Amino acid sequence: IINGSTRGSLRGKKVLITAGGTREAIDPVRFIGNRSSGKMGIAIAKAAADVGATVELVLGQISVPQPVHPRISIYRVESTEEMQTKVTELFPSADILIMAAAVADFRPAQVANQKIKKQDDQEQLELQLVKTTDILKTVAEKKRAEQLVVGFAAETADLIQNANKKLRSKNADIIIANSVAGDNGAFGSDLNQVTILQLGTEPVQWSKMKKIEVAIKLIQLLATKMK
Ligand code: CTP
Ligand code: CA
Repeated sequence: IINGSTRGSLRGKKVLITAGGTREAIDPVRFIGNRSSGKMGIAIAKAAADVGATVELVLGQISVPQPVHPRISIYRVESTEEMQTKVTELFPSADILIMAAAVADFRPAQVANQKIKKQDDQEQLELQLVKTTDILKTVAEKKRAEQLVVGFAAETADLIQNANKKLRSKNADIIIANSVAGDNGAFGSDLNQVTILQLGTEPVQWSKMKKIEVAIKLIQLLATKMK
């Protein structure tokens, strides 16, 4: 059904997508992680592949099956650093980057070589954390004019204001803002309610819909912008 003449096609385009959560090691058996399921990024990967794109999917920790599609190549990563390395390697040949992954902002300053043992008289453990690299910001700084970069903004308060700051500070073309507060929480859900931010236009709020529907709508928007 889908061919090069179909409106909204991404045939011949390369789309780089990250999904899932990163894990930062504390010791050989423990890590700092997050609640990302990977559903939104995986849905975007499927939607892009379905309209003819070649998709490179960099996957962190996910709680759903890996997608299987002839035009989706999957790279598994664990830490923010591994994700950064893969994205940096694949970005130059990509037409579009979509950072749907929930990337750790901080990682343990040191990774213990051995399992950290608790002492009998010990009531507390202090972990020192250091900032990770902002993958989106670092990569988007080097983007060429014809490349499109899309980021997400997960917020529990001041959604539009915070997402707008991210749009500017990260040099993104589009920020997809989603509230992760309380009952609206997108984590793990099949539904998502997002607001689309682009420079020079007012934010556009999309109604609450299935993540796969958000993905299809986003891919249609990107196909229009790619022309
Ligand atoms: N992101 C990234 N590298 C990081 C942190 C975030 O590439 N180290 C990306 C995410 O994939 C997302 C966007 O930046 O596309 C925004 O992530 P978010 O966590 O909402 O914002 P932060 O900039 O990390 O700020 P904060 O968590 O403080 O709101
Ligand atoms: Ca963050």
